[in-house]
Amino acid sequence: MLGVSVNTFRVWATRARTARTGIAASMPSPVATLHGQVYRSEEIEDFGRLIALNARSPRSAQRGLGAYYTPSIAANLMVQWAVRDATNTLIEPSVGDGEFAIAAQRYAHGMGWGTLDVYACELDPETAARAASVGAIAPSRMRVGDFLSCHDLPSADAVIGNPPFVRVRELSAPLRRSALDAASSTLPRPMDASGSVWMPFVSKSLTHLKPGGRLALVLPLDFTYVKYARQLWLLLGAEFKKLSIIRFRERVFPDIMQNVLILLADGRGGSTDEVEVVSYDRIADVPDAGFGAGVSVPIEQVVSGQKVFQYALLPKETREVLQSLQAESAPAKGRIKFNIGYVSGNKQFFHPSPDTVQKFGIPQSSLQPTIQTSRQLTGSGLRTSSMTRSAELWSPIGELTSGEADYVSYGEANGVDMAYKCRIRKPWYRVPGVRNPQILMTTFSDRPRIHLNDAEWVASNSILCGYIQTRESAESIIESWYTPLTLLSVELNIHSLGGGVMIAVPGEADAVQLIDAKVTRPVDQSAIDAALRSNDATAAYSVGSASIEALVGVDGVDALWRGAAELERWRKAQV
Ligand SMILES: C[S@@+](CC[C@H](N)C(=O)[O-])C[C@H]1O[C@@H](n2cnc3c(N)ncnc32)[C@H](O)[C@@H]1O
Repeated sequence: MLGVSVNTFRVWATRARTARTGIAASMPSPVATLHGQVYRSEEIEDFGRLIALNARSPRSAQRGLGAYYTPSIAANLMVQWAVRDATNTLIEPSVGDGEFAIAAQRYAHGMGWGTLDVYACELDPETAARAASVGAIAPSRMRVGDFLSCHDLPSADAVIGNPPFVRVRELSAPLRRSALDAASSTLPRPMDASGSVWMPFVSKSLTHLKPGGRLALVLPLDFTYVKYARQLWLLLGAEFKKLSIIRFRERVFPDIMQNVLILLADGRGGSTDEVEVVSYDRIADVPDAGFGAGVSVPIEQVVSGQKVFQYALLPKETREVLQSLQAESAPAKGRIKFNIGYVSGNKQFFHPSPDTVQKFGIPQSSLQPTIQTSRQLTGSGLRTSSMTRSAELWSPIGELTSGEADYVSYGEANGVDMAYKCRIRKPWYRVPGVRNPQILMTTFSDRPRIHLNDAEWVASNSILCGYIQTRESAESIIESWYTPLTLLSVELNIHSLGGGVMIAVPGEADAVQLIDAKVTRPVDQSAIDAALRSNDATAAYSVGSASIEALVGVDGVDALWRGAAELERWRKAQV
């Protein structure tokens, strides 16, 4: 994601705690450990932008405020959509190098309309002076300062631009205050400062519009999934007649670590309960005539956290097949619920090597076979009974033997008891939440796979643990799981990080759609086993095709595969 080697990242991470300047000083802090440090993806994205700023110099000072300049192809398309006649007044709230204003004037001249009335705001005086010197904005129309606290702007037909994407809590105190106030002035609930400043920009921008006016803004893709923006979706639905977002599979800004979209909100004063999603591979694929039509999704589903923006990327036939399978399928959680496994607090200590077991005389009765890392499942068969035991958890049940008491003292001498997870439990060496799930699911993988835990192993938090909620057998879950419908639903529901690695979290795994047990045909489990052993998840998910084919035919199954492949293409293009 950052375009640096793992080693470079490690060096920065080691220096992060002490560094006062330079890249290491700006490193985000890890939020957890799981095979190493875990970082929030948004924080790594922010950090990536900072690295990009450092790498390129001349404009780097301005870029610290989130200043990535919009490519002219995007600005031209947005202008063409937003500017409707010679009398239109425009506002550009964060003008930067003036790309939108220039595009608007160029467009108006091309249409024979003369000069448009364009107002602009820019926080940075030098940038503002440069934008004004290009001549696209009359000096009397330029507002130098914070757009979010600017009251000196007229009503406009369109607000068009690319606001900064900087977390509110990272702004200086006055800017932070004006951002939170601007958000509160239109949104029903106060905004949390962990959210990004583009949201107050959108909410304030709409207050500057005349009835019938419109917004055309470049926003981060986060807008489609962050929880804090849900109230903005409701506000936009209540304020505009038509809403569209335009998504691009390839990055619009080739040189920054940020996926963006274009928001078009038309007809201020109207209302809608839908948002239209228009998608293209590249911005260059948008036809000259304009953005075109897309797939409408209900705002209500956006707000309830359903993955509708993913759904909208699917081909029409795939959406139809999904609809027709509604009655015979349901979210997994009615049959199986997923949780994370135990958190030991110190992997090495709680998973002692055979030598350590021997040295301290740890009894076999205190050791439980476990899936300690997801890697143990890579290339393994369907059942834990066929796997080699590569890890054991030390999990004493009753009183400690004298050898175990020595092991506890050894742990204390090495500070294991002071690790955060150990410190907060009593006694520190008893790991809670050690259970035997019936199903195990890989978390960090190209596509999640499930295994049958017939040997009753325990499992750590590197994988998801599935517990069956009904009287059915684990085999019956396996039969319903490995079908192309599940695969498509996995692509729809499970999120991924840059580079396309899927990260399954319990809520997402629970939401995966499974074909009902009553319509599931018996499958050849040895074929699933063979596919998993050869690490071929696609082959595993095709084993249950017959169940789906019986309901929607060969073409229907084909449409599901095509849908999954399309979502995979989008996932793998993600930065
Ligand atoms: C993402 S750039 C976009 C520039 C321009 N819209 C474009 O696309 O070419 C954001 C610009 O917003 C400016 N900016 C940041 N915070 C601002 C604020 N509170 N009010 C006005 N401008 C701001 C930055 O200085 C930067 O020039």
